[in-house]
Amino acid sequence: MEIKTDYLVIGSGIAGLSFALKAARSGKVAIVTKKEITESNTLYAQGGIASVWSQEDSFEKHIDDTLKAGDGLCNRGIVETTIKQGPERIRDLIRWGVDFTPGEKDSKNFDLTREGGHSRRRILHADDLTGREVEETLVKRVRENGSITIYENFIAVNLITDGSACLGAYVLNKKGSSVDTFLAGATVLATGGIGKVYLYTSNPDIATGDGIAMAYRAGASIGNMEFIQFHPTCLYHPHAKSFLISESVRGEGGVLRLKDGRAFMKDYHELKDLAPRDIVARAIDNEMKKTGDDCVFLDITHKDGESIRKRFPNIYDRCLSFGIDMTKDLIPVVPAAHYACGGVSVDEYARTTVKGLYAIGETAFTGLHGANRLASNSLLEALVFSHLAAKKAGEKVKKKILSVIQPWDRGVAVESYESVVVSHCWDEIRRIMTDYVGIVRSTKRLRRAGKRIRILRDEIEKYYWDYDLTGDLIELRNIILVAELIIESARKRRESRGLHWITGYPGKSRRKKNTELRKKVRAGENAAG
Ligand code: FAD
Ligand code: SIN
Repeated sequence: MEIKTDYLVIGSGIAGLSFALKAARSGKVAIVTKKEITESNTLYAQGGIASVWSQEDSFEKHIDDTLKAGDGLCNRGIVETTIKQGPERIRDLIRWGVDFTPGEKDSKNFDLTREGGHSRRRILHADDLTGREVEETLVKRVRENGSITIYENFIAVNLITDGSACLGAYVLNKKGSSVDTFLAGATVLATGGIGKVYLYTSNPDIATGDGIAMAYRAGASIGNMEFIQFHPTCLYHPHAKSFLISESVRGEGGVLRLKDGRAFMKDYHELKDLAPRDIVARAIDNEMKKTGDDCVFLDITHKDGESIRKRFPNIYDRCLSFGIDMTKDLIPVVPAAHYACGGVSVDEYARTTVKGLYAIGETAFTGLHGANRLASNSLLEALVFSHLAAKKAGEKVKKKILSVIQPWDRGVAVESYESVVVSHCWDEIRRIMTDYVGIVRSTKRLRRAGKRIRILRDEIEKYYWDYDLTGDLIELRNIILVAELIIESARKRRESRGLHWITGYPGKSRRKKNTELRKKVRAGENAAG
């Protein structure tokens, strides 16, 4: 099948859906998404969206908090644009129908919560299910829009380029098993994060860095992949897969404690439990290593039980399903891979270094987060850059006759009877990354990780060409590439800054530099590979 469209959007989280709604004003949009449409990191977002909304707050304060968290590497212009656009983009969401939790005293306004690194209450939320409220509302609006066609269970395999420009993507129809050609005036990567590169993550299974891997293979520049944010508090329980305990629990008074009850964050930072995330995650890692304990504990039992149940209905119910009553019991927590601050390098309109290719949301590296993202700034970033990208792409997208493209050709690939290779490699990569490329790194461990990942990469590449494509195989090939990019970037950064903490280089370098990686692509090379 060959589909021609003005805009091809790969991914259906907040970034892809909000872009689609805006782009649909100037052309036809196709959204391809690898599972059912709502499945995304966005769906699970809890804390909320940071934006200046109260009289006691100001753009300057939000900008300052973002720059502080970013530890010297934020792009100031991008920070200013993003934060100043915040209120208008929040109004977009409200116009689309998103229902934020109203304030208790002023029901016409919104309740604002706090998270680590924020000097003011500025996070709009929908109880502790903000992502679900946003995602489901946007899906409703997209489904109603006659200019948007949705392709669920379609996984993008590779971008189609002519050596300099992106023309669309090859996409596997997971139900029909065909690889279809999507041709577009503008192609938009909105494929989300990379959490599944690690064994322990807050992210759902879709977070395999597909957009970053596809962009790299197509020759786009990839930036700052060493800055992987570990969320300090994921539920520690053998049956709780990837369940986050929102930072807003600490924002509302939660305190981190050791098994013996000692609150330890005062030993690490003046903001104690509300210090920036990199500092809290490292403190927990350090305490766990010192004590040999498997987790630390989050305590909010000193707050009134009724208000906890009201403010955190989702977290309360989920903890209770594991026998933990958070109004009476301490919650066992560990840090887990949560967010990629780097990604596909883009300019102020979300344009990548490849013509016709845009990247938005978590997949993109805009310069907003620097070396460490301020909590709840990512949903905001996704909204702002989707808006800017739609505006820019709308000026350029023409109803042009797109070139004739060779359909997907898999050569001699045959059906695989050895899927165990795929599952084994998945486990091995995630174990290597967790053990050697985690919260605290060393040159030796990074070198060792690099060696092992290269061996696995060669095996996976061979397997990829020998056997028929499946969703798992596509994702495996992407996570190994993303793992390599993280290791390579981490090896290049010889300093400890923000989320990149490396034992041989404890100080910060005077030169503040981003890490950029880019592959040389020959014309035609990318047609199937
Ligand atoms: P996603 O929402 O992840 O969407 C990516 C989409 O791309 C999915 O639809 C996926 O299926 C699709 N996709 C991926 N690869 C392919 C492919 N090859 N082909 C087709 N489709 C593909 N941030 C905040 O600002 N505030 C919060 O409170 C907050 N809480 C969070 C809580 C949790 C548990 C998690 C995991 C993250 C949280 N974050 C939060 C981060 C934030 O949710 C994400 O950064 C943001 O939702 C990313 O949006 P996105 O649209 O870029 O990607
Ligand atoms: C949380 O609710 O703790 C997640 C917030 C974020 O990642 O921005």
